[in-house]
Amino acid sequence: MIQYTFQQGIVEAVGTLQRGGLTAFPTETVYGLGADVRNPLAVRRIFAVKGRPLGHPLIIHIAEGADLDRWARKVPGVALRLAQRFWPGPLTLILKRHPEVLDIVTGGQDTVGLRCPAHPAALTLLQAFGEGVVAPSANRFGRLSPTCAADVVAELGDAVDCIIDGGSCQIGIESTILDLSGETPRILRPGAVTTLALAEVLGEIPERLTATSPRFPGSLPSHYAPRSSLRLVEDECLEDMALDSLKKGGDVAVLSKRQPREGLTGVRWYLMPTMPTSFAHRLYAQLRAIDTDANQHILVERPPAVLEWEAVNDRLERAAAGSRVREVPL
Ligand code: TXA
Ligand code: MG
Repeated sequence: MIQYTFQQGIVEAVGTLQRGGLTAFPTETVYGLGADVRNPLAVRRIFAVKGRPLGHPLIIHIAEGADLDRWARKVPGVALRLAQRFWPGPLTLILKRHPEVLDIVTGGQDTVGLRCPAHPAALTLLQAFGEGVVAPSANRFGRLSPTCAADVVAELGDAVDCIIDGGSCQIGIESTILDLSGETPRILRPGAVTTLALAEVLGEIPERLTATSPRFPGSLPSHYAPRSSLRLVEDECLEDMALDSLKKGGDVAVLSKRQPREGLTGVRWYLMPTMPTSFAHRLYAQLRAIDTDANQHILVERPPAVLEWEAVNDRLERAAAGSRVREVPL
């Protein structure tokens, strides 16, 4: 694996994609692991490298101004308006798939995920390559999405042919996914493009996939399964729960938006930002730094259950669910 800065890396990354290799690149959300959308062997390698089960569809990243009809059919007018408003940016649109898109990309479904990312390195790469690039987050299956080049190296090392280092990702959590392939628009994954921002263009509040909705292929209640145990805790219970966990043995880390009560010792207390966007930006990097072994308890102050915190709550709930799965003996 060779690591390049943005300026050096584009020519090398394009060559890598053309040869059927894998190139990791920065986006404004998280780092992606890219392959040529037309090359089934390269796409298959993505699944192998990530340890991701086949059948989990991949997002196709497209250049600015790319023609949606090339990838999708029956493209509704609202998709064009959303693309116009939010691309380049952290929004993935699910549309009816064009017959030429490979089965391995869509998991054999009749739909396709499309996104034009906003990071300058990603945009330059897509423009220079001139074709779609499939890219899941550049992490092993069930692990946190990487938000800087060093995270990609830690996750995938030499399994990647080339990495473009574009610094730390501005947003830090994955894109909003909006499904426009059905009767009504549905949010499959909340993100930085908020429900209210989407509603302004849609003219209605989109439905939200919840724990009780029918699952779409590739959606799992847990996404990231921490090595340690991770629990969401009400603000007023943090200190008591931390002391309780200390008694059980192991290390205790707390992520909170406020300082601890005076006199609390033996607990690592990490002060998190009070704004949801800054919290999201910090979240994965912070968890990655703490989640180093199984002998840890991570307690996270439960954010308010309001729309502004929707995307952060989604990631935290999945992490907590992943940690519970791990506690169940197999
Ligand atoms: O921000 C992002 O979206 C990042 C960056 C690299 O662009 N990518 C990313 O990809 O998060 P990945 O593969 O880690 O997550 C993509 C999600 C998966 O949950 C997958 O099931 C869903 O998108 N997805 C992709 N195509 C779909 C489709 N046709 N129908 C339903 N869900 C789809
Ligand atoms: Mg992912």
